[in-house]
Order: sequence, then structure tokens, then C-alpha cells
Amino acid sequence: MTDSTPDLAIEVRGLQMSYGPRHVLRGVDFEVRTGEVLCLLGPNGAGKTTTVEILEGFRQRTGGRVRVLGLDPADAKARLRERIGIVLQECGFPRLARVGELIDIWRSYYRAPRPLEELLDLVELTADRDRQVRRLSGGQRRRLDFALALAGDPDLVFLDEPTTGFDPESRRRCWAAIENLRSLGKTILLTTHYLDEAERLADRVAILQDGCVQTAGSVRQVARQAGVMTTISFATPQALRAGAVTPPGCLDVRVSGEIAVCRTPNAALALRELLAWAADNDLGDLDDLAVETPTLEDAYLRLVSGGTR
Ligand SMILES: Nc1ncnc2c1ncn2[C@@H]1O[C@H](COP(=O)(O)OP(=O)(O)O)[C@@H](O)[C@H]1O
Ligand SMILES: [Mg+2]
Repeated sequence: MTDSTPDLAIEVRGLQMSYGPRHVLRGVDFEVRTGEVLCLLGPNGAGKTTTVEILEGFRQRTGGRVRVLGLDPADAKARLRERIGIVLQECGFPRLARVGELIDIWRSYYRAPRPLEELLDLVELTADRDRQVRRLSGGQRRRLDFALALAGDPDLVFLDEPTTGFDPESRRRCWAAIENLRSLGKTILLTTHYLDEAERLADRVAILQDGCVQTAGSVRQVARQAGVMTTISFATPQALRAGAVTPPGCLDVRVSGEIAVCRTPNAALALRELLAWAADNDLGDLDDLAVETPTLEDAYLRLVSGGTR
């Protein structure tokens, strides 16, 4: 049964999941478009792994509708296996196997595997192909996970917290591997609790909390929905500090010593008004003018700590 919209790789509508009496997912809605990176965010225990495992066909949902590449993972697990790549939160390898060997074994499970050299290159393990698994660092092992997930050249890749516990260098290499995947046109569903990771990698994010997706969209859209303002700051002109001029009230300019700050939902409009006001009052160019757009972290903290609710 392939009854979903063709440009959606994943479609989730009213997804419910209970573990006994515990309702973890209470009607989750989101979609992942073909070729995009969607990042599922949410506090620990929000149900991210549960959602991902349902989509992978590892868990039976208790309600709702789910389509993955047009198929229902609850009854098409075997058919999906050929087309999806999975990086689990934890997994074990034979420690004595060598990197290249292990990838080749994985490749042999698929009808149209990706070439070994390409896989090694994609995850930056070419120099380590003859190294034993037990000699790899945590970050290298995780990139080996990626290579294995990609062995069958899947259309869709699931990455559940791919960089948790990594040092900054290993995280950057993992990000590079994910960006490589994206540039191959793969669709990626990523979970993470690092907001900088989501901000860097995701085309769109969905925030899971209290059993539902509370907010979804691009980082900018989410920041706007969270009601986080853009700030425009500038060195306080002498005339403003002395009270000789007053900026238009709509700009809500607050002066704290040498710095004046305006918070606004519309940076372009506010900038125009601010510069016009400065010109009208012979304040010259505003020194140290800086525009700071809200980060995903600002938006997330506001949404998840209930700042707007
Ligand atoms: N097999 C299970 N049996 C019972 N409860 C579970 C099981 N797996 C997860 N849970 C519970 O479901 C909730 C969501 O877990 P999980 O999906 O792992 O969240 P996340 O990945 O967002 O941290 C947690 O409270 C967790 O304790
Ligand atoms: Mg998890």
C-alpha cells in the first residue's frame, strides 16, 4: 500500500504509543520531505527514540497513521529494510574485524550496495580501512556505524543521537559525514539534544514534548513561533544618554550605559526606523551597530521551559 504524498519520505499523523499505562506519544504529527534533514528535538524521555523505532519497524505503535517511503513500517518491515539505513544509539561490533572487512560483509547483504571506497571516503575512514574495530576511537566507531548504515545505499537514514558524548573534534567529523549524506540527496531523520547540532544540520526541526510535536518548522520559523525577538544593539549616542533625543516608542530602545538595545520581531523594519531616527537627529552612523538573530537555543529554551505557555 503506497498511499502517501510522493514528496514526503515520512508522514506521521496522530501517532500514539503507550508502554502499559504510560502514554508516551499522544498524537504526534510531523512529516519529513524527500531530501531534507529533519531534526527531532525534545527533553530526555520525550519519546524521540520511541518515535524513531516505530518508523524503523522495530516497535508496534498503539495508534495513529505512519508512512515511511510510502509504506507502513508495521507491516512492510522487510521491504523497508532494503531502503533505510539505521544508526542506533548503541551497537556492538566484532572487535577483531577490520574496518574494510566489516563494511564489505555488510555490503554483501544488499542487492545494490555502495562501493567500499565511496563508503570509506564518505565517513573519512579511508586511512583506517585495515584497522581493527577495537583500535578505533569512539568517534571513528560511530562513523563506522554510518558506513554500515549506508552500505545498502538507502534513500532514508535514521540517526538517533549520533554524537552524544563526543569531543568537539569527533562531533565535527560526524557533522561532515552527515553533510556528505545530505549532499547525496538522502533524506535524514536525526535526533539530538545538542541545539547547535540541530541548528547546523537541520533543514527543519520538530520539538517533541508532552507526547506531541509542539512546534515544527525551519529554525527561523521556530524562533518566530517561540516569540524570541531579534536584538539590535548600538553604542549609545551622547545625545541619547543625555536625554536630548528620544527614539520612537515602537522601537522599545533600552539604554544600559554605553550600549543601547532594541528588541524587535521585525529586524528590517526596526533597522529602517532606527537609522531614519538617527539621521533626523544628526546622530551620524550608529557606532557598533549589530543585529543578533535568535538562535535555536533561545527558542527551544523558551518553548520547552514553558516561557510562552
Ligand atoms: N521498552 C520500554 N518499556 C517501558 N517504557 C519505555 C520503554 N522504552 C522507553 N520507555 C519510556 O518511554 C519514554 C520515552 O522514551 P524514549 O523514547 O527513549 O525518549 P527519548 O529518546 O526522547 O529520550 C521514557 O519515559 C522511557 O522511560
Ligand atoms: Mg533517545
